[in-house]
Amino acid sequence: MLRTHTCGELRINNVTQTVTISGWVQGVRDKGSLLWIDLRDRYGITQITIETENAVKDIVDTARSLGREFVISVTGKVVERYSKSDKLETGEIEITPDKIVVLNSSITPPFTIEDSTDGGDDIRMKYRYLDLRRNPVRQNLELRHRMAIETRLFLDKLNFLEVETPVLIKSTPEGARDFVVPSRMNQGEFYALPQSPQTFKQLLMVGGFDRYYQIVKCFRDEDLRADRQPEFTQIDCEMAFVEQEDILNTFEGLIRHLFKSVKGIDIPELTRMTYADAMKFYGNDKPDIRFEMKFVELNGVVKGRNFKVFDDARLVVGICAKGAAEYSRKQLDELTEFVKRPQIGATGLVYARYNTDGTIKSSVDKFYTEEEVKKWAVAFDAQPGDLMLIMAGEENKTRKALSELRLEMGNRLGLRDKNTFACHWVIDFPLLEWNEEAQRFFAMHHPFTSPKPEDIALLNSDQVGKVRANAYDMVINGVEVGGGSIRIFNKQLQSQLFDLLGFTKEEAQAQFGFLMNAFEFGAPPHGGIAFGFDRLCSLFGGAEVIRDFIAFPKNNSGRDVMIDSPSPIAQAQLTELGIDLKKN
Ligand code: AMO
Repeated sequence: MLRTHTCGELRINNVTQTVTISGWVQGVRDKGSLLWIDLRDRYGITQITIETENAVKDIVDTARSLGREFVISVTGKVVERYSKSDKLETGEIEITPDKIVVLNSSITPPFTIEDSTDGGDDIRMKYRYLDLRRNPVRQNLELRHRMAIETRLFLDKLNFLEVETPVLIKSTPEGARDFVVPSRMNQGEFYALPQSPQTFKQLLMVGGFDRYYQIVKCFRDEDLRADRQPEFTQIDCEMAFVEQEDILNTFEGLIRHLFKSVKGIDIPELTRMTYADAMKFYGNDKPDIRFEMKFVELNGVVKGRNFKVFDDARLVVGICAKGAAEYSRKQLDELTEFVKRPQIGATGLVYARYNTDGTIKSSVDKFYTEEEVKKWAVAFDAQPGDLMLIMAGEENKTRKALSELRLEMGNRLGLRDKNTFACHWVIDFPLLEWNEEAQRFFAMHHPFTSPKPEDIALLNSDQVGKVRANAYDMVINGVEVGGGSIRIFNKQLQSQLFDLLGFTKEEAQAQFGFLMNAFEFGAPPHGGIAFGFDRLCSLFGGAEVIRDFIAFPKNNSGRDVMIDSPSPIAQAQLTELGIDLKKN
């Protein structure tokens, strides 16, 4: 038997038992007369102690030959420790070995297998299997496992069925770029990997499955960021015979269940904010509402004082940072530099300090008297001690830049604690979004999203950009963790949408005919949502980078550096697939 117990299991009540444990050598300490081995597995560390003068020579020799990460099996007696350790769960006992078997040796690992390691990102990605031996990485994956189990338990109780949908599907022009797979049997033709199981889950509704979910891999060939991977996982869900309200309630329930069961946190009922308000008050469709600091528009109080920046601007808008009036000149310069960075692209920042003595000092006092700036303070509802930060320019760009500044101020003022969770819905998204480059509308969510019934009349007007959708996102701490919509289930309306998106009838039929045809066979009203599972796990784990919650992630260039993928394939394989790279 290779083990009777794990390395995390033995306690004081096991003393006198003879046990066998197996694992990896965390380290060996040799003090001459005493020699210790720390043996580690997924469950913990157990200390093996050898009194070299009393022990069998063979055991001492074997112990002295061990290196870090050797795999060994130890049989021996559990004894109470002379000096106990409260750092280890097994810290009250140790093992006096009768036998040590080396199951495998190890070359020296390229980084230390410890909670905080000396290995940089690249090396840890290359040797991911070693990184997985470290506690923090393992704990992240344990959290992920628990989240998946609790998701399944919750949805199963509500009669949801987990159904697998295909991975080799059809490329479609909407959404992100597809990853495509050549077909050997149909040369010159390609499958696409699903960006989501969207159309299949809708077809399951037509198929009468009425409550579907799947914890499913999705693939998108898009630029990567901390919260994006080319292959990621969704908790994908769909329900028939529902309205938006039913979906919001059901999936708010799922999230609250996850917080309660996984983290022991009671989340209050989720508040709702319209997309229009999110943009107006936070300049962002996924506002972090752990803190207030709402936008205040100032056009009415700042214009007409010969300050060109404000006079020429479409929008003058600001935030009030509570208690930050004492910011030094250096800190304010840093904020100005922050907004001027190319990623943010603002031309500058105006500030006004509302000092605790009641005086107000602005960075533009050449143009505005103190009395005038007092009016700004009224607009901001600022109190003595507060700092007003103001930006001006074209509307969307200015809101976007101020949104970044708001988040930065939230960080600086310690208002974005990763152990505080603010969950809410953003609803009433616009149906369509104008794309300047393509000179056409794109679906803001996806082309299967239903317009709000009260806005359908606008579809045929020049106000089509104003049509709102029955679409919603769930936002936690400023992260879009999920999004969905009520779907179109009528062929004619679906076809009208494709028209608006610039598809010819033939194109729409060729790309999505299967779905529109299905709508002719009694499609029920339906809607759904998909959560970004990796994002949810990283939020629960208090991290921003989803990579740490994926067993074998890709790096920022979309590469798996461990298996060295993507990689070229043999000419013979290309020929078999009918792909001639030289042609291009
Ligand atoms: P959407 O495209 O909004 O909707 O995706 C749903 C959620 O998936 C997560 N997500 C990602 N996570 C990691 N890496 C990525 N590259 C990535 N892209 C998206 C986000 C997002 O909220 N079929 C629709 C859902 C529906 O309408 O039911 C869909 O896929 O957290």
